Order: sequence, then structure tokens, then C-alpha cells
Amino acid sequence: MRLSLGEKGKVKILPVIEGEIREEYKDLMEYLEKEDIFTGKKGQMYSDVVYRGENVILLGLGKEKDLCSETLRNAFFKAGNELKAKKVEEATVIAERKYEDFCFKRTASAMAEGLIYSTYKYDRYRTMDRKEFEFSVKEIGFQVPEDKEEKISDALTETRNLMDGVFLARNLVNEPSEYMYPAVLAEEAKKALEPLGVEVEIKDRKEIEELGMSAFLAVAKGSSKEPKLIVMRWKGGNEGEDIIGLVGKGLTYDSGGYAIKPPTGMVGMHTDMGGSGAVIGAMKAIAAQKLPRNVTAVVCACENMISGDSYKNGDIIKSMSGKTIEIINTDAEGRVTLADALYYTAVNENASEIIDVATLTGAVIMALGTSYTGAVTNCPEMMEKVKNSADMAGEKIWQLPSDDSYREMIKGRRGDLVNQAPGGAGSITAGMFLENFVEKKNWVHMDIAGTADTQKAKGYFIPGATGTPVKTLYTYVKTSGEKRDKDK
Ligand code: BES
Ligand code: MG
Ligand code: ZN
Repeated sequence: MRLSLGEKGKVKILPVIEGEIREEYKDLMEYLEKEDIFTGKKGQMYSDVVYRGENVILLGLGKEKDLCSETLRNAFFKAGNELKAKKVEEATVIAERKYEDFCFKRTASAMAEGLIYSTYKYDRYRTMDRKEFEFSVKEIGFQVPEDKEEKISDALTETRNLMDGVFLARNLVNEPSEYMYPAVLAEEAKKALEPLGVEVEIKDRKEIEELGMSAFLAVAKGSSKEPKLIVMRWKGGNEGEDIIGLVGKGLTYDSGGYAIKPPTGMVGMHTDMGGSGAVIGAMKAIAAQKLPRNVTAVVCACENMISGDSYKNGDIIKSMSGKTIEIINTDAEGRVTLADALYYTAVNENASEIIDVATLTGAVIMALGTSYTGAVTNCPEMMEKVKNSADMAGEKIWQLPSDDSYREMIKGRRGDLVNQAPGGAGSITAGMFLENFVEKKNWVHMDIAGTADTQKAKGYFIPGATGTPVKTLYTYVKTSGEKRDKDK
């Protein structure tokens, strides 16, 4: 779906505030209101579009004072689906209205996001009933006031780039592990990022050994697939300027290892590289927009499998940092790989602050369900910035408490730390475990076990990967250092 300025095709998409009557459609709207068919309530849609035809789609936005980006995304997602259902190839969004207290650029971006979300499909493995996948909307024009055209054009380009990053993450995560194993993930990252000017370095088992990443290697040991360390560097800032580190959990499959998962829990575990999908997707958007920041993303990609070589419950492992880890549960493998990924990012890549993203614990789903990402931090100021970025991006995040009582829980008996602790608070103790490997750098951990994918269709997501939190990461990188830029 292309997004452009001006009129396209014969169908108009008209966003409507509750109770508002638009001059151009006065008769129709008065009739619809009188019959209580369409009054502009949030979530309402009235479509007067014949097959491949012309006419109008009215979208209810609710009351002006309650208007937010999320309402626009949902409304325009619906409109996009309607265009698909009616096989309309081109349409025009009437975005002329200036919403009070609401930035025009943000409005257009949210509308565009909703429309783009409606185009996502994952049909590679569908050979039957393909009809529903065949039609796609070609172009949407945005009719905006002339003095806003330049700004809106920029906003549409940015939204396209951002959503390409989101869709890349979704595609990577949706792939079954049979195809998406570490070497493939690494190649896909290279393919997507190198053309945009990102330096992508892929390290193999021997190089990982030389780096001393033995915690990462311990988890990888049971698999016949070679682990890969994927390092992606975007040097959009000046040399010597701070480096933002993004670390993604990259388990291309998590069987649980010798603490084997039951089949019901194992079936979705090709999504256990959701964190790495998100950081790769974010890097794509960051580079496509040429953000003036230095960002290094790191992924320790491997599989957690069973074999004669697997690591075992009861093993004690030395991490790259030198700290030792008692393996209480081989299924708590993400934190073991991240221990080395975080240390490597802090020390070898010299990141000054780090965000890690991981499908880390089932416990976060117990605590927050599937709409909020859980977060743990060692730096409240950085957490605030991440929360603001998530707000702007329309992704939900909730900070979990962290203090010494939780730190106590993960102290080891035979080694320094345990990788699982009894006593509940599973997502907090997992986060606090990671804190030991960031070398006191400012750090925020995001547990996306509940938000990386969805079983059922939800809002503008079809079942499968959501691409969360690509938009938060992008917004964080974009807004970090903005003040510094202005001061220059
Ligand atoms: N990959 C899982 C976490 C997960 C669970 C992600 C459900 C998505 C959906 C992780 O490696 C895991 O197995 N965690 C264990 C930790 C426990 C053994 C301490 C869990 O949550 O049960
Ligand atoms: Mg596990
Ligand atoms: Zn896992």
C-alpha cells in the first residue's frame, strides 16, 4: 500500500467526531443520525461503498476531547479491511480537519499506521484457500490543507519506514523454527539492514568461544544448529557520541531443554526470538529514517534443545563476566544467554545505556496478561523515557518493582547466582538476574512474553506476531538526545 498526498480513486474515507455533520455529506449524515445508524461514536463505521465502486466510508472517532492516536489506528484499520473486502484499489483520506490540542502530524501518522496494519498478512505456508490473500489495496491519498502538505508527506514516509520495521519483526517471529534457526536469522538481519548502511557482523561458534561467552554457549550446546552472535551497528551520530545498546533474546526455539516443556507450552516457542525480531525491526526503521544516533543491537541466537551434549539442571556455568550461574532450570535459558549478550554489549561494544527485549517469563503473563509489557530497570530516569516513548508509540508497558528483597532471592548457593528462584515474582527475579550483567550501565529490561504475539485477533493485530515493541524502541532512539540536538 502506497501512501501519498492528494486525491486517489473514488472512495473517500471520512473520520467523524461524534455528532459532527459534514457539509459534503449533509443529507446522508443527517439521515444516518436520525435513524441512529451512524452517529460518530468511537468504533462505529458506516460504509457506503459498492463492490470496486465509489462513495464514502464514515469512521466514528467519538468525542473530540477523548480523541487519541489509538482510536485513529483502530478506526483506520477497520477502513483498510473494508477497502480490502470491497476490493477497492485506491481511496482518499479526508484529513482536513484540525483537531484541537492534537498535532496534525501525529493524527496523519496514526491514520496511516492503522491503514498499513490492515495490509499485514503471513501466508507463506498457506497453499489452500488463498483467495483471501490475493487482493491488496494499492494506494491511499491524504487530502490535507496545503500548508501542511510537506509535514504530512514527511510523516507518511516516516510511518512507512517504521511499519516496515514492525512488519520485518513480525515476519521473522512468525517463521517456524524449522526454517528460522540462528544462521537464517543472522542472514535475514544482514539482508534487511546492510543495504540501509547498518554494519552487520555475524560471529560463529569459534568466535563466540574466543570471546568467552560460555553462558550463551551452554544454552546452545544441545542443538545441532550453530549459535550465532549477531552485532548490528548503526552509526548515525557523531564518532565518540554515546551508543545506545539494544539487546534481543534470540532463542529460535525453546523446548525447555532437560526441564522439558509440555507440548502445549512448547508449540509457540518459535516466537522465543521475539526480542531479537524487535531489535532487528527497530534497527531497520532507525536506519531507514537515518536517525542521528549511534545504536548497536546485539542478539545471541541459539536453540534450547535436548541431546547428549545439552546443559543440565544442576550445572554451574561461568558467564563471560566471570560470574557463575547455577542452572536450577534449563527452561530459564533466556536470562543465561542474555547474561553474556548484555555484558558483551556493555563492555565490548561500549554501550552507555542498554534496553533489552525478551520473551523471558510466563510469569509476566500471570502478572500483566497480554496487553502490557513488563519492565525492570536500574535507572528510574531512563525508565521514564522508555515509558514516554511507549506512550507515544501506542505500546503499553508497566514497570515492575525491584529492590533488595528480590536481589536476595537470586543469590546462589553453590555459585554466584541461580537462574530460577522459588517464592513467586518470576518476572522480577528474571529481570534482577540480568541486572548483574550490565556493568552498572543504565538499563531497562522489557519482558514481552505476553505481548510479542497474540493467539487471537486483537485490535489491529491478526493472530501471530505483533512486532512489539519496535515502535517504542524507535521512538526512544529518536527522542533520546533531542534536547542535546537543540542545544547545539
Ligand atoms: N521462553 C520462555 C518464556 C515464555 C513463556 C515466553 C510463555 C512466551 C510464552 C522462557 O524461556 C521460560 O521458559 N521461562 C520459564 C522460566 C522458569 C523456568 C523460571 C517460565 O516462564 O516458565
Ligand atoms: Mg525457557
Ligand atoms: Zn525461552
